[in-house]
Amino acid sequence: MLKLKTVLKRPGHPWVYSNELVSMPQFQGFCPLYDTKDRFVAHGWMNYRALIAFRIGSRDPQDIDHDALVRRSLERAIALRAGMQGSYRLVFGESDRLPGLVIDRYSYENSVVHVVQLHTYASELMLPIVREVLGEPMIVRRDIGVRELEGMAKKETEVFGELPKGPFFVMHDERELMAFESDLVSGQKTGFFLDQAAAIAQFGRLARKLPFEHVRVLDLCTHVGQWSAHLAKFLDRSITCIAVDSSASALEYAALNIERQLAPLRERGHQAELQCIQHDVMRLDELKIPPCDIVIIDPPSFIKSKKNIVTGLKGYEKVNALAVKKLSPQGLFATCSCSRHVSGDEFYALLGRAALPIAWIGQSMQARDHFVLSSFPESRYLKVAFGVRCDS
Ligand SMILES: C[S@@+](CC[C@H](N)C(=O)[O-])C[C@H]1O[C@@H](n2cnc3c(N)ncnc32)[C@H](O)[C@@H]1O
Repeated sequence: MLKLKTVLKRPGHPWVYSNELVSMPQFQGFCPLYDTKDRFVAHGWMNYRALIAFRIGSRDPQDIDHDALVRRSLERAIALRAGMQGSYRLVFGESDRLPGLVIDRYSYENSVVHVVQLHTYASELMLPIVREVLGEPMIVRRDIGVRELEGMAKKETEVFGELPKGPFFVMHDERELMAFESDLVSGQKTGFFLDQAAAIAQFGRLARKLPFEHVRVLDLCTHVGQWSAHLAKFLDRSITCIAVDSSASALEYAALNIERQLAPLRERGHQAELQCIQHDVMRLDELKIPPCDIVIIDPPSFIKSKKNIVTGLKGYEKVNALAVKKLSPQGLFATCSCSRHVSGDEFYALLGRAALPIAWIGQSMQARDHFVLSSFPESRYLKVAFGVRCDS
């Protein structure tokens, strides 16, 4: 019998650590958890090989049937996103009571592709139900570092069914679909960063008001170019996009996606130029480019665990300071952190330490399909701040 040593310190939180259990049976699977007085606490997934030894799936004692619980949680996740259009996150792990299961739904012209990421042992057990409910085509990705914390190796990606050709669609400005291409099978994470949708829309509306006839955009850590591509549509005037990333393969898609939005601008008589540059943003000072009216910096998570918090924070400070140096007077700045080890307050504090000549004018977070639970603060991971250069 799986039993708690003490009362859980964070009621409502879906994780139970190994040191919170009386003993650690050598068990991996779905089971009930009891409190110190042998009263039922929750049903969930035990994994003796992980520090997070038990992940809660339901606090209802009736939920003894694993497959029925997974099916119900999946159907609930789908229902909660009813009405969303284009591509979006369909399941966000613990926030959808499906610990470690992440599913992005990509909408193509005539089909839908689900990209499933299996982060936890629990999510491996959920896969048969996921496949039954969502069908094909499906990409199942196990090329994820955090699996090691669960005692599981990274594995080759599996593709079920035939993947459609051509672009998938994401919402632009909450009103029209926009085409993108990306490598969903082996690109970073799920292949596309759907979490930035809300921040881009918010920033785009600010950018639209810039009083310049020709806008120069510096899109740092562009990945497949979604900030630049959306901004080209928002700005609807002459534009120069400079998209920077360390990944050559991501930049190939960035060129395709940004160019797709620049071509119609040229047809309407605007100037539209694109430079895709493979470069390390930590050496941004070596990149000789004229000042830009818009600078976006969206780096990878510099803090993957609490162990590297000090160096990670310094990394964010440095990259922000370098990025702002490329911004023209009164130019617009967007900066992001996707590390769940950096809170909103810590994010502003590190921006303060970087002593940026920026007046902050707005903020954003992950898109609404990436649910945040107040009982699970780890679910709020993306911080985005908008500012204007104010030292001139
Ligand atoms: C969080 S993703 C950016 C997502 C992108 N802005 C979007 O909205 O789709 C981080 C990107 O930074 C790139 N990257 C990682 N380290 C880098 C470095 N040192 N210099 C430049 N780019 C880097 C990665 O290749 C990845 O594309």
